[in-house]
Amino acid sequence: MKIKYTSDMKDFTVDGVNELFESVEFGVREPLLLKKILEKSGFLIGAYDGDRLVGFARTFDDGGIWAIVCDLCIHPDYRKCGIASEIMAQIKIWATDDGFRTLRLFADVSTDPGLFEFYKKCGFKKMDNAMRSKGFAW
Ligand SMILES: CC(C)(COP(=O)(O)OP(=O)(O)OC[C@H]1O[C@@H](n2cnc3c(N)ncnc32)[C@H](O)[C@@H]1OP(=O)(O)O)[C@@H](O)C(=O)NCCC(=O)NCCS
Repeated sequence: MKIKYTSDMKDFTVDGVNELFESVEFGVREPLLLKKILEKSGFLIGAYDGDRLVGFARTFDDGGIWAIVCDLCIHPDYRKCGIASEIMAQIKIWATDDGFRTLRLFADVSTDPGLFEFYKKCGFKKMDNAMRSKGFAW
């Protein structure tokens, strides 16, 4: 299996990302909303097997200090091959090169308690000080 990694915006399509999201049960996003989200992301990274998007993550940031990783997902048929680790490694390189001082993420451990273990292997440390507003979905 030869996986190609890309962070070139023109390599991503709304349909390709939505197909991957559906396969990992993230749910399909409304196409125009997803297009806007992709365009506003600071960094997009995808893993392709041929023409098929099999791994993905993106970041959003404040342009200088904070960057947040989200939507990391790997197609179920391609897991445990190191693809997510490579994606996270490339995000760290991007954040370092662009001078960000903090790189954070939110792990939804309600669906997979193993996520903390996975992110620890990627060099992340658990925090206890995150809060979310009432009245919003997450
Ligand atoms: C979590 C996820 C991204 C991992 O992707 P992956 O490509 O299989 O991960 P890797 O192959 O790079 O795994 C790296 C290491 O973490 C371990 N690991 C991977 N997924 C794990 C999990 N869910 N629980 C515990 N350990 C895990 C691997 O065994 C491997 O360990 P090793 O280096 O000791 O062999 C993938 O399972 C996924 O897409 N899950 C559904 C979506 C999701 O929950 N995303 C996170 C949103 S916060």
